[in-house]
Amino acid sequence: MKDIAARVRPQFPALATGAVFFDGPGGTQVPQAVIDAVAAYFREANANEHGLFATSRRSDEIVAAGRCAMADFFNARSADEIVFGANMTTLTFHLSRSLGLLLQPGDEIVVTRLDHDANIAPWLFLQEKGAVIRWLEFRPGDCTLDLDGLERLLNKRTRIVAVGHASNAFGTVNDVPRIVAAAQQAGALTFVDAVHFAPHRPIDVQQLGCDFLACSPYKFYGPHSGVLYGRREALERLRAYKVRPAVAAIPDCFETGTKNHEGIAGIAAAVDYLAAIGRDLGPASGFDPYESGRRRWLKQALAAIMEHETRLFARLLDGLLEIPGLRLLGISDPARLLERTPTACFTLPGLSPARIAEKLGQDGIQVWDGNYYAWEAMNFLGLEAQGGAVRAGLSMYNDEGEVDRFLKALGSIARESR
Ligand SMILES: Cc1ncc(COP(=O)(O)O)c(C=O)c1O
Repeated sequence: MKDIAARVRPQFPALATGAVFFDGPGGTQVPQAVIDAVAAYFREANANEHGLFATSRRSDEIVAAGRCAMADFFNARSADEIVFGANMTTLTFHLSRSLGLLLQPGDEIVVTRLDHDANIAPWLFLQEKGAVIRWLEFRPGDCTLDLDGLERLLNKRTRIVAVGHASNAFGTVNDVPRIVAAAQQAGALTFVDAVHFAPHRPIDVQQLGCDFLACSPYKFYGPHSGVLYGRREALERLRAYKVRPAVAAIPDCFETGTKNHEGIAGIAAAVDYLAAIGRDLGPASGFDPYESGRRRWLKQALAAIMEHETRLFARLLDGLLEIPGLRLLGISDPARLLERTPTACFTLPGLSPARIAEKLGQDGIQVWDGNYYAWEAMNFLGLEAQGGAVRAGLSMYNDEGEVDRFLKALGSIARESR
């Protein structure tokens, strides 16, 4: 059987350039099906919503189909629990403002030191409403959250717990089920940033029991956009910041202004694209019998992606740990790869992360350098002042040849600097 990378690579036009795209955690390439869906929107459905004519009706259908697709992607109970937005950051600021209206001075919000700032800054702004911020710290050794600290942070004043599903810097997969359960016990609402998690593992909001969860389709082979899941009962508690004539019903009321219709067409295409991979791989065992169709296929696809990426990451990790002086941040134990995503974050002595990224870029290998907005974490580790770290992240379309090419190039860069 072909591995998943061999199967999907021909469908991504950008891969034909020969570049090695290890910048997936910053944004993935898109398959032809997504490009076609966005173009088809403009050809066949381009109009504003709720008009009494053909293209507007078609546009409304596309938005409705996009909601259904994302409901399947999250395993949400209903498409009404899906809110579209410009990106995760904008959606989170928007939500935090509405949640802020429910807070009293002295109410507490838990955030983590490990998160992307998009899941920190929106909550810090609520200090202006008198909210008190409590920090959940992480262990610098393996960049995992100190969950023993969580129970100590929670109390009857805790209103919101905001946590990342996976760290976009170090790849740590957090024990979100445990965090959500503890937050619920304390009576707090839960917000999960699943941006870095979504391309690598299946998401099930019903199983997690979280109130809100956000992700960004451009990290899982779709267009630049953001999607928020809100449990219906939680959304119903909120007042939306909206203009008065706009639709008052959930979820439209949270989608300020005109939607990105062509982006939503592309989101549905990205979800369908992933589902088709799962469908083609055939039935797998161990799935809940009530799940069928696209939800099941998505789980199958993500399970296969996880297996492929973990195998590839083991090879990458092996090679990285052989480079003298390389400091890998995060979990490096090969027996613990399921506790992390295939995202490697590292530094080399004597070379700035920007210089390493630039040299790799000259070889056609795309990686990020800096803090990737995991700004608190980089400061905590003392790396911010030194330009952060290099980040090389694997996606489903990456293969062994690319990992070897990257390791060879990095090995030469490291040797030259000694
Ligand atoms: C973990 C994580 N959270 C949030 C964001 C912000 O997402 P967006 O660009 O959709 O605002 C990113 C983007 O890199 C991310 O990796």
